[in-house]
Amino acid sequence: MRPKILSTDHFIRFDLGNYCNLNCPTCFRQAQTELWNRDHPYLKEPVKKHPYLDKTHVTLEQVRDWFPEDFMRKRIGTLVFNGASSEPTLNPEFMEILNYFHDLVPKIEVSTHGSTRNEDWWYNLGKTKIYPLFSIDTLTPGNELYRIGANTEKIKKNIRAFADAGGKGAVKLILFKHNQHEIGAFRDFCRDLGQDFSIRPSYDFSGDKTSYEVTNDGRTYTLEKNTTEDYQRNNPRRLSDPDPNSFCHLTLKKMIIIHSNGLVYPCCHIEGEFFRMYERYFTYDNPTPKPRKYNERLYDDIVSKIEEQGGITTLSLKHHTLEEVMTSPFFDHVLQDSWADGSNQTCLNCKTWQAEKSREKFSYIS
Ligand SMILES: C[S@@+](CC[C@H](N)C(=O)[O-])C[C@H]1O[C@@H](n2cnc3c(N)ncnc32)[C@H](O)[C@@H]1O
Ligand code: SF4
Ligand code: SF4
Repeated sequence: MRPKILSTDHFIRFDLGNYCNLNCPTCFRQAQTELWNRDHPYLKEPVKKHPYLDKTHVTLEQVRDWFPEDFMRKRIGTLVFNGASSEPTLNPEFMEILNYFHDLVPKIEVSTHGSTRNEDWWYNLGKTKIYPLFSIDTLTPGNELYRIGANTEKIKKNIRAFADAGGKGAVKLILFKHNQHEIGAFRDFCRDLGQDFSIRPSYDFSGDKTSYEVTNDGRTYTLEKNTTEDYQRNNPRRLSDPDPNSFCHLTLKKMIIIHSNGLVYPCCHIEGEFFRMYERYFTYDNPTPKPRKYNERLYDDIVSKIEEQGGITTLSLKHHTLEEVMTSPFFDHVLQDSWADGSNQTCLNCKTWQAEKSREKFSYIS
C-alpha cells in the first residue's frame, strides 16, 4: 500500500519573503532575472530584477493563519526558514515569527548569509533555540567573490554576537577555488566560537564545468571549482532502487516546501521550472500556467495534475489549510500513482538520488 504523504514529524522549508541584499551570481534570483530579460527582448532596457522580486515579506498574521498551533504541534518536527528567493533575516517580523513557532516546533533552523541587521539583533537571536546555518564564502574581507555584496567583518561580528549570547549554529563554507585555502581558518573560527562547521562544494559546477565568469560593478572575474581532493562531487549515479518513495524529499524526508506567497510545492528540484510555468501566478497572482508547449515534460508530470484538481490555488495556503493542501488529490495519491505507473519522468529522473549520493561524503558537522 502506498504510504500517506501527510503524517507526523514533517520538515517544513519556509521562505519568509523575496528580498535579498546580496547578488550571488548563480542564485535563483539572478537566474530568473536573466530568463525574464531573455523572454522579453522588446523591453527598452533589461530589468535589473525579476518583477516578482523584492516585493513580499511574509507577515506574522499570515503565519498565524497558515500554520495553526494544533497542526504544528501534531505534525511538524523541524522548521527551516529557507527558500530560493530570500534572505530570511531581512523579514521585518522575523523575531515575532520565530517567537510564534518557538514552542510549537522542536527544531528551528535558518539559512542565512549573516550579512544583515546588527550585533544586538544577532545577540538576541542567540538567546533563542534557533540553529542558524551561516552560509558564507570567506572570512577574509575582499574575498567575497561569490557572496557579492557581503560584508565579512559584519558577518564575523554577527556570528560572534550570536555565539556570545549562547547561540549554537553552524558555519557552512560554500567551497570554491578562491576560498579553499581558508578551510583551516574556518575550522579555527568555529572552534573559538563553539559553532559547528560544514563544507559544501558549490553546486554551480555540474558535468565538466569547472569555472564561469562573473561581472559585478564593471569588474569581470572567473569563479572556479575547488581543486581539493577531499571535496569533489561524485558523478551522478542512479540509485539501485528506482522507486521515488525511496528517495523523494516528500516521502523520505517528509519535506513540505512553502513559498512566501503561501504556495506549497512538491520539491525544490523543480522550483525553477515550476516558477517559470506559473510565472504569472508568482508575479501577478494570475493562476493560469504557461501552455504545455513551453515545457511539455513538466506540464505532463506535474502541472496537468495540479490543473486537473482545480489549479494552482488548490495548493495555496491563502485558499486552503495546510492539512487540506497535503490531502488534496495531488499529494494524496496522484503524484505517487504517476510513480507507480512509470509515467512521471520528472520524478523518475529526480535530482535527489544524484545529490544525496555525493553530499554525504563531504558535508559534515564537527
Ligand atoms: C537561495 S539560498 C537562500 C537562503 C540565504 N539567502 C542563503 O543564501 O543562505 C538557499 C540555500 O542555497 C545555498 N547556496 C547558495 N548558493 C550556493 C552554492 N553556490 N552552492 C551551494 N549552496 C548554495 C545557501 O547556503 C542556502 O542554504
Ligand atoms: S544570499 Fe541567498 S537569496 Fe541572496 S542572492 Fe545569495 S543565494 Fe540568493
Ligand atoms: S522531483 Fe519528484 S521524486 Fe524528486 S523530490 Fe521532487 S517530487 Fe520527489
